[in-house]
Amino acid sequence: MSASSDAIARRFGDGGPYAEDAEDNELIRRVLSRKTLRRYSDKMPGDELLDLLVACALSASAKSDFQQVSILRVRDPQKRASIGELFPSMPWIGIAPVFFVFLGDARRLQRVGEMRGKPVQNGTLEGFFNASIDAALAMQTMILCAESVGLGVCPISVIRNEIGKVAGLLNLPDLVFPVAGLCLGYPLAEGYVSLRLPRGITTHSDGYDDAALGPAIDDYDRRRNALHAIPKEQQRSNAEFGEAAFYGWSEDKARQAAKAEGAAFPPYLRSHGFSFD
Ligand SMILES: Cc1cc2nc3c(=O)[nH]c(=O)nc-3n(C[C@H](O)[C@H](O)[C@H](O)COP(=O)(O)O)c2cc1C
Repeated sequence: MSASSDAIARRFGDGGPYAEDAEDNELIRRVLSRKTLRRYSDKMPGDELLDLLVACALSASAKSDFQQVSILRVRDPQKRASIGELFPSMPWIGIAPVFFVFLGDARRLQRVGEMRGKPVQNGTLEGFFNASIDAALAMQTMILCAESVGLGVCPISVIRNEIGKVAGLLNLPDLVFPVAGLCLGYPLAEGYVSLRLPRGITTHSDGYDDAALGPAIDDYDRRRNALHAIPKEQQRSNAEFGEAAFYGWSEDKARQAAKAEGAAFPPYLRSHGFSFD
């Protein structure tokens, strides 16, 4: 088996395909083994390196060349602390050496329209969606480049749950919204590669077919549990749903998704320039 095939097996454990004879390279091997890391040493990544990573992020593909991402680095320790305090269950937000916020920026194109005297209406669903995707692609590009130089990162979308306070702290104008923050630093711990759903249900050929979802999820739950069981004390919402004898990925994600998150985000967007027409 090649290094990539090994990495595919670790990532999916789904019986293949393993792309044994495909030509691979270091980037591919690295992507296959990438992982989110939430604990960092005190060592601060240098500004030159951060400039490099920002340039990489802004080199990501951009819908229609509209270039609707902005990247905001939160340097002010007071602002960092204020954002961190909003999310006490995620202490890495306040203490990671570096914290970026990837912004969907539908405002810039609107302003360009005004500058050129054209009737641009960018608060549409299309404008929101395009800006969101540009920001997500830029963030993932930074993630992969940061990981390639030995940094650890963690995206932070929970900031949208307190959108009003976060937007106030960061002076976000209408039509500019956070897609996610990104904690970044030199890792303190190894972490582990998170097992992905079997490709039998996440890939399709010529047409969508999820007939095999049930048994595939059961099998995934069991395999994932054998590798990294979720401890009893981390079961969610036991008061509501009871303690589960077997608590796998699907039970955890169903409980998580049953508690709607981000209720403040749609009204915030609607009152800050987005009509979603
Ligand atoms: C858009 C996005 C938002 C995320 N938001 C958070 C977050 O708010 N807090 C957090 O601790 N992790 C967050 N994560 C990290 C995910 O939990 C992590 O990517 C997932 O568990 C898979 O693990 P892996 O990246 O190591 O494969 C986020 C990831 C993405 C892509």
